Amino acid sequence: MRSTGRSDAETEDRGEGTEEDGMDGLKIIALGSALPGRLVSNDELSHYADTSDEWIFPRTGIHDRYFCKKEESAMTLAVRAAREALGRSGIDSSELGAVVVATMSADFATPSLACLVARELGCPETIPALDLNAACSGFVYGLEVARGLLLGNEGRYALLIGTEQLSRLLDLSDRTTSILFGDGAGAAVLERSAASVYESFLGSRGDASILAPGTYTGAFDGFYSDGTEDESVLGSGVTAGKHQKVDHMLMDGKSVFLFAIDIVPRCIEEILKKSGRTLEEISHVVCHQANSRIIRNVVRHMKADPGKFFEDMEHYGNTSGASIPLALDDMRERGLLQRGEELILVGFGGGLTWASAILCYEPPLPKDPKEETGTERK
Ligand code: ACO
Repeated sequence: MRSTGRSDAETEDRGEGTEEDGMDGLKIIALGSALPGRLVSNDELSHYADTSDEWIFPRTGIHDRYFCKKEESAMTLAVRAAREALGRSGIDSSELGAVVVATMSADFATPSLACLVARELGCPETIPALDLNAACSGFVYGLEVARGLLLGNEGRYALLIGTEQLSRLLDLSDRTTSILFGDGAGAAVLERSAASVYESFLGSRGDASILAPGTYTGAFDGFYSDGTEDESVLGSGVTAGKHQKVDHMLMDGKSVFLFAIDIVPRCIEEILKKSGRTLEEISHVVCHQANSRIIRNVVRHMKADPGKFFEDMEHYGNTSGASIPLALDDMRERGLLQRGEELILVGFGGGLTWASAILCYEPPLPKDPKEETGTERK
């Protein structure tokens, strides 16, 4: 059993057993983020495709997003976000036990962004560093991966980054995807913890209703021994492989919407059950910032307080693996995060993948209380 953050008496009352399993949980001790330099409004997108702010905003909740300038990339954003998070943690990069980067838009297949970031930060060569691709669930998957690496290596702190340069996967003339996505990075310094709650719930289902180009060779066409050309092997509504060159992000928006409004409540309910919490006890649920309509639908379905469900996609669009840590750092900056509060995080997206986790936000106490406020995001 993982850490519940309850006293033994409390956990026994809830039928959870006692907490004697050591430092196998995680907490967030610091956050950082980075946005690239080019602000792109819905109005600007209407120059490249037949769309408008009047169409986009009511259906998505998105007004603006940021795209990388020429000198920026998923890598440069990751390093900036990581430096910010490390700076706030009071931890030196030499104390990190693992570096994990969640991304679906890494600069290279190898070296991984994580290896390059670790080098930039001056991390010891004795620690593991790797990228993981679980699309928009990547950051929450990354918590489990970082936890496993720390447990295996007896490390105490891990750096988990979500970073994306989705602009380079977009065709701005394809209005079905160009209006949704943006670039950015968020980072968290994690610490192993026995005293605070930690649980996770992860899942996946092979389906290409969200499809982004990689190094596709065409081999997939011959993969099915019965020679089927059925598009459904790739997913509902999106044709690829033999039929279409995947040179930019493709998405079957309707089926993704239906998937999301089904899986997000399940992710929340499972994590509440595993942790023995009720939704009323949780101040903030931070979902992947894909679309405001998805979040509003979930709130309605769960009869939840909408104030618990943070939203900032209006300013940044959908930044996939970066959206949850970006949102968390946004909340920190707005003074919404209380030291010691238990957060539920929910990722969902390409793969298809889904993931939820509950963990504590517990930054070091500031030496000077003024240090906690007024930090400008750059
Ligand atoms: N601007 C103007 N018109 C548009 C646009 C656009 N950008 N896109 C589609 N349209 C048109 C369509 O052509 C269609 O026209 P028609 O009725 O004449 O055929 C009409 O608007 C309605 O199109 P729909 O595709 O039915 O629009 P819908 O209401 O489903 O909204 C959207 C599309 C916003 C993509 C919605 O399906 C959605 O939110 N899906 C979830 C997508 C998402 O959030 N994905 C990310 C999660 S996973 C991840 O993060 C990787």
